[in-house]
Amino acid sequence: MNFISINDAIKKGKGEVSIRGWVYRERGSNKIKFVVLRDSTNIIQCVISKNDVGEKKFKLIDKVQVEASMQIIGDLKKDERAPTGYEIIVKDFEVVGESHKYPITKDQSNEFLLDKRHLWIRSRKMTAIMKVRSAYVQAREEFFKKQGFYRFDAPILQPSQCEGGSTLFEVKYYNHKTYLSQSWQLYAEAAVFSLEKVYNMSPTFRAEKSKTSRHLSEFWMAEMEAAWFDLDKVTEFAKQEIKYCVKKIAEECKEELEFLERDPKKLIAIANKKWPTIKYREALKVLKQKAKVNVSFGKDLRTIEEDKLMEHFDTPIVVTHYPKEIMAFYKPSDPKKSDEALCFDMLAPEGYGEIIGGSQRSTDIKEMEKALKNQGEDIKNYDWYFDLRKYGSVPHAGYGVGIERVVAWICGTENIKDTIPFPRTMLRWKP
Ligand code: 4AD
Ligand code: MG
Repeated sequence: MNFISINDAIKKGKGEVSIRGWVYRERGSNKIKFVVLRDSTNIIQCVISKNDVGEKKFKLIDKVQVEASMQIIGDLKKDERAPTGYEIIVKDFEVVGESHKYPITKDQSNEFLLDKRHLWIRSRKMTAIMKVRSAYVQAREEFFKKQGFYRFDAPILQPSQCEGGSTLFEVKYYNHKTYLSQSWQLYAEAAVFSLEKVYNMSPTFRAEKSKTSRHLSEFWMAEMEAAWFDLDKVTEFAKQEIKYCVKKIAEECKEELEFLERDPKKLIAIANKKWPTIKYREALKVLKQKAKVNVSFGKDLRTIEEDKLMEHFDTPIVVTHYPKEIMAFYKPSDPKKSDEALCFDMLAPEGYGEIIGGSQRSTDIKEMEKALKNQGEDIKNYDWYFDLRKYGSVPHAGYGVGIERVVAWICGTENIKDTIPFPRTMLRWKP
């Protein structure tokens, strides 16, 4: 039999089709059964009647429960009442794999669904989100290829921190200690002296103690680093990357977005707008004047403050020049204003918070040593990194995108956990 996907069957519109998939729903009597079958592309109603398939075969369908796998051959016809506008009048079928009573039924708790994640990823919601994620990653690859970047991979086991010691995951490494990667950045900085423009995407680990809807312990960071880029250039480049991906997803995932109750046209409209860049000090003014929230210079913006700020924007925005003192060691101070760093975050609208963190990179070894010492780091561990400033150093910049945060915003999901198939958080590392 020549099987086609459910979507292709629907496109065909009429005639005999052979499809295969899993039972999404079933109901019926002892004369006729309605089985909604799903595959990776769509769902379709299949009508199985005793008259058409014979008594012996019809008995088999009685045993079929939700999630059994089946092959079906039959005639396709239009039916307005069917869930996707078409149905198949079944001529013959085969049960490929029977199903036990499926544990997932309506209205189950999030925790139960996380326990049964290996099954829950079959749901239409998870399938839609996973497709958006896949389209996003593919679009991003395309973007960087068009921009002439090289893919560059860094080790996951690393000897020291990049983003602060408090969120490091320690790994026993023979008789030594290493840490799971918090960022690809420091290695990418070594690579720009050879490849100049590099990007990647890899698992990233943070032992986050906060149980928020935005933090995972294992997430996928999509980073870039480029020689000769300064802060202005890198922030504009970041906007270009996200806009390109948003448009691509909106074009390629119309049905998925509509299923998730996101309007693809709205996303395209957002991508076509100008995305503002403001300084951290201006952000504090907006917070004070428009939201009556006082944050003094020198404090990082908390989630609640980011949300208050974003109530005044309907596109992502870039915030630059955060206070030098609270920034990672590699973010340089602005020569024009030494208490500000040449760094930026991109914040998403609708309460999705920080989706990108990045900066120009310091080329001042003394400044970096001081910052590391203040954090209690042994600067000897960074000798190799300081070497990069000793042999033909050049201005360079880069950033990291939280893939899951972007997917959460685009899909409008309540919790970041739904944007990754098997989430890892402080309280969740199974299955
Ligand atoms: O702002 P972060 O910490 O920046 C860096 O790690 C830089 N070294 C990146 C670079 O310049 N190459 O992280 C970057 C992004 C954040 O903006 C956020 O979107 C995401 O990574 N992120 C997380 N996403 C999910 N769960 C977490 N615990 C995350 N921590 C950061
Ligand atoms: Mg950050």
